[in-house]
Amino acid sequence: DWTSDVFIDATVADLKEKIGSDKVVMGLSGGVDSSVAATLIHRAIGDQLTCVFVDNGLLRKNEFEEVLDSYKHMGLNVIGVDAKQRFYDALAGLTDPEAKRKAIGRVFIEVFDDEAHKIDGVKWLGQGTIYPDVIESVSVKGPSATIKSHHNVGGLPDFMKLSVVEPLNTLFKDEVREVGRALEIVETIIGRHPFPGPGLGIRILGDVTEEKVKTLQEVDHIFIKGLKDHGLYDQVWQAGAMLLPIQSVGVMGDERTYERVVALRAVGSVDGMTADWIHLPYEFLGKMSNEIINRVKGVNRVVYDISSKPPATIEWE
Ligand code: XMP
Repeated sequence: DWTSDVFIDATVADLKEKIGSDKVVMGLSGGVDSSVAATLIHRAIGDQLTCVFVDNGLLRKNEFEEVLDSYKHMGLNVIGVDAKQRFYDALAGLTDPEAKRKAIGRVFIEVFDDEAHKIDGVKWLGQGTIYPDVIESVSVKGPSATIKSHHNVGGLPDFMKLSVVEPLNTLFKDEVREVGRALEIVETIIGRHPFPGPGLGIRILGDVTEEKVKTLQEVDHIFIKGLKDHGLYDQVWQAGAMLLPIQSVGVMGDERTYERVVALRAVGSVDGMTADWIHLPYEFLGKMSNEIINRVKGVNRVVYDISSKPPATIEWE
């Protein structure tokens, strides 16, 4: 029978044997998968593991600082890299979702590679790949290969010449969470909703600018905090906001406004392959709408996405 304690003991022993006295480098995302994978590797080889956490400028509000802090408290040897401007520069003028994903993936690899080169004699690349990632990246090899390039799987550039270590690649998300809890990782990381690697970059439809990121961060922050404050966060598998590439007419006093529209999305799911929109209480939605429109400059309309997957995807891009 599978239990997290048995899995942890076996995996740590296995990692020790496999890695020996080599050095490992690993990118952290703030999400549950990479955090649990890093903690397991750290347990096996301690400070032979160096973690890199990149601020791509597309994270949630305050996420970089808060998560970096948690990692340091967990005893991980982690380097935080502020690469915001490099990502914004690479994204300038790009509107196609796949082009944006590719640009974000490419810059991430460049930034990460710069950091990896600073570590003497590193041999391994740690990854937080879980079982559904493995299946999805295999199953999209067909005609739909271009639907989404999940750059966190198999995205290893040739020039890095590192062997890959993926301690979670047989586990489902709920098992990863169980392992994480057994490893005493903080609940703010374990219970965290999944968040895409390209982050807010694919929730800003059309071209990405720093100003749009700031706007969306504020909207997203109000929504996510609202879900937490109303005890709804844990009933939702994933939630977020999309900044739409249109403006709509509104009124403020005697003035006519012409401002942005945001869409809120909250879904229930097991693995992200299928998803149902969540019937959030009208009262809560009304409250979120008021707060967003009153507090976020440049937004005058909020809509709620009532589409399920399939055929709608969770992300809008
Ligand atoms: P979709 O939009 O395809 O999303 O229904 C399914 C799950 O995958 C996440 N997602 C991504 N994750 N890189 C990632 O790391 C991506 O390019 C990407 N696109 C979607 C999405 O947030 C959801 O959890």
